[in-house]
Amino acid sequence: MSEEDVVRGERFAGGPARGFLSSLSADERIFAADLAVDRAHVVMLAEQGIVDEETAGEILAALDTVESDGHDALPDGEDVHAAIETAVVEAVGPEGGRMHTARSRNDEVATCIRYRLREDLLSALEATLALREALLARADEHAETLAPGYTHLQPAQPTTVGHFLLSYERALARDAARLLDAYGRVNESPLGAAAFAGTPFDVDRERTADLLGFDGTVDNATDAVSARDFLLESVAALAALATTVSGIAEDLVVYSNRGFVELDDDYASTSSIMPQKKNPDTLELARATAGDAHAGLSGLLTTLKGLPRAYNRDLQRATPHAWDAVDAVTDAVDVAGGAVATATWNEGALADAASEGFSTATGVADLLASHGVPFRTAHETVAAAAAESEADAAPEYAALDAAAEDVLGDPLEAYVDREAVEAALDPAESVAGRDSPGGPAPDAVAEQLATAEAELTDDESTVAAARDALAAADDALHSEVTDYV
Ligand code: ARG
Repeated sequence: MSEEDVVRGERFAGGPARGFLSSLSADERIFAADLAVDRAHVVMLAEQGIVDEETAGEILAALDTVESDGHDALPDGEDVHAAIETAVVEAVGPEGGRMHTARSRNDEVATCIRYRLREDLLSALEATLALREALLARADEHAETLAPGYTHLQPAQPTTVGHFLLSYERALARDAARLLDAYGRVNESPLGAAAFAGTPFDVDRERTADLLGFDGTVDNATDAVSARDFLLESVAALAALATTVSGIAEDLVVYSNRGFVELDDDYASTSSIMPQKKNPDTLELARATAGDAHAGLSGLLTTLKGLPRAYNRDLQRATPHAWDAVDAVTDAVDVAGGAVATATWNEGALADAASEGFSTATGVADLLASHGVPFRTAHETVAAAAAESEADAAPEYAALDAAAEDVLGDPLEAYVDREAVEAALDPAESVAGRDSPGGPAPDAVAEQLATAEAELTDDESTVAAARDALAAADDALHSEVTDYV
């Protein structure tokens, strides 16, 4: 045992507070990360001549054994870092204590968290890309499928299923961009900062960063061990993503209720008492996941607020907020992707609902406005006809004509052909006419789809390249290790 362990193990063993101090079980999440960090550090120490090659080989061999025995076989310790070090010292003898030369658990844990979080962020991104892909595939398929569009949950204007689904894909593209942006700053190595104040040993921080697949280092040693803003921004990005997903889930729950969409049985649940029930439970759970993410974000903000430099043990309680959020959100996004990919859109019910509530009223007003009537006056004319008509239905031509006489002082035909008015009252014509950029007309949707598909392809290659870079670093680290063992 190293002197440090004797001190930690005996005088500061924790007493009644032992369990409270320990993060060992939560640290299972970073068990593999810690082994990688230990290996990279030991390889660097050997390369720099800080530890001799033979000792490095023995330590690296012991780490292999620790790995194959698994986290559950670790000796007791305050955390995974201490426990692995104890296991190495037990295997190698006091020389094993050289592993902790020129580092502290402070830079070690920060490196482990970033190392593991990279993988988790990539999983969250992959789930997001799959959901985007499902939305784009269904949007393409339903580019001409009429649908009611709502504001305030009231019938507003006809649109298409394609345009509606694409609106969520666009939001998810921004969510993915935020995650990728966070990934860039997570992917920097604090290792070599030691406790917060650097080390007299001639460490090569770039080398350990490189061995661990990081893009660079967190330069200032005090910043390197103190900073957890990478957790904050990752969880903030996850919370934004979960908020988008909660909207998708909510809309699909409402649309299932109205018979517009039917979830595949795999994404629905039934009732223990009401035999006829098919409930959209998976989407309700996905909707609720925003709560998990937001809880993680506020847990982090509250824990980190007002912490002094450099390392404070509060940080140990910050990390699990990030794991909980990334797990919950990734699962929710995964399930939302499956639900979207397998749902059936009921074109008949959607088409019926698309014309409910005089949803073409704006189109009739637009038509008058494009034939010389000031838009506000056109709005007033159509509103007068709507007031005289049955709720939930478009007015008859005669009612519009009477309103024109009243408000404009002329019959409708003084402004526009009857045929054009009849067309404007038709939901499909109404959609086809709204071909402004970003609009729901099938041509406009086709352009948006092309842009979205290109962006998705780019994001897919970015994420795949990040995965490959991590795998390549892992391979390279293993082959370095093999040289010593
Ligand atoms: N278990 C600690 C954590 O998760 C590791 C660092 C402990 N460092 C210390 N100086 N007590 O943050």
